[in-house]
Amino acid sequence: MKKIYKKLKIFCIVGARPNFVKMAPLIKEMKKYPQFIQPILVHTGQHYDQAMSKEFFKVLGLPRPDVYLYVGSGPHAKQTAEIMNRIDDVMLREKPDLVLVLGDVNSTLACALVAAKIRIPIAHVEAGLRSDNWNMPEEINRVLTDRLADFLFTTELSAKKNLLKEGIAKEKIFFVGNVMIDTLKNNLSKIRQSKILKRLGLKSKSYAVLTLHRPEVVDKKEKLLEIIDVLKLVGQKLPIIFSVHPRTQKNIKDFGLEDEFKMPSLTIVSALGYLDFLRLISRAKVVLTDSGGIQEETTVFNVPCLTLRHETERPITVTMGTNIITDLDKNKIFKQLKLILENRFKTGRTPPLWDGKAATRIVKVILKKYIRFFELSNLFLKDHNI
Ligand code: UD1
Repeated sequence: MKKIYKKLKIFCIVGARPNFVKMAPLIKEMKKYPQFIQPILVHTGQHYDQAMSKEFFKVLGLPRPDVYLYVGSGPHAKQTAEIMNRIDDVMLREKPDLVLVLGDVNSTLACALVAAKIRIPIAHVEAGLRSDNWNMPEEINRVLTDRLADFLFTTELSAKKNLLKEGIAKEKIFFVGNVMIDTLKNNLSKIRQSKILKRLGLKSKSYAVLTLHRPEVVDKKEKLLEIIDVLKLVGQKLPIIFSVHPRTQKNIKDFGLEDEFKMPSLTIVSALGYLDFLRLISRAKVVLTDSGGIQEETTVFNVPCLTLRHETERPITVTMGTNIITDLDKNKIFKQLKLILENRFKTGRTPPLWDGKAATRIVKVILKKYIRFFELSNLFLKDHNI
């Protein structure tokens, strides 16, 4: 008689650009167990355009979403509420066994909240990171999602400490490594083939890369003016490629700063695709950023990274990696830049378990937890002669 199992239906939630990068290896891994797992890919539509979403699905080999919620952009509360409103109907109808959310974006918290209220277990990948900066919408999203989650998958040891301090039971915490680095490793040969350096007329290790998108940096005119000062300083030493996020582009225009951002040493390019962007940072002399994921990617590439924020929620990139927190402090930036140009900057090491196998570990933990459920349901089906 053919064995009958009830498959584990997992809602895999993505919304914004970094989510796509992190979900790709998880979907690939889940698809290795078609007899046990039915992944349902849900795209909230938080990021929706060609450069921010579609291009990433194509390059990362993500399947077309099973569910698309079309929420689009909006103020934080409205965007979060809209995602909740739309996902609620889908969860009630589809009754997933588990909801898997990633990182710290509004889609993460919105879907976790809805799942918690209808008592569906939640897995949070990249749990426990803390900036302790409540001005960041991402910090609110992280803390609340972790409080609701049943499985907390962490990328570094600091995350476990943070979670234990907040009273999360240690049985729920699993140190598995970094799915963003899985994607980097899975795509290394394609990244190397990117022609972006040639296209921009750049020589390896002779330029800087800049990215900015955090609201606490780019939503304030005075901060953008400080950035301009930093760019003037760095631009004296290296040409700078600024891969500009739509939020930042809009603010530069709205604050009337377009002319100030025109500098001989600065090339502004609109948001790049995954392979081109990773190639660009992998061959840079230095990367200046306010992003979280880029602090991790530069650490793996052993490329100096100056983080233009007060703090990082990813301290391992500083203690083991190539990251330094400079904020927008010109003295600190100048000092580090000098070390970089004289090839005296620290060299980093790859953090533990950032080995390209995080997704395998995550899916194993989930299967192990639910395997008993499978055995029981199988016995039940047999007992009932189904
Ligand atoms: C979101 C995440 C942030 C993540 C970032 C990656 C939250 C709170 N923030 O910030 O943690 O690091 O994504 O990019 O969830 N826009 C487009 N095209 C799109 C999507 C957005 O032009 O496809 C524009 C919107 O019109 C808006 C701006 O980008 O002006 C902001 O988008 P939004 O999704 O609200 O937040 P991000 O700043 O991208």
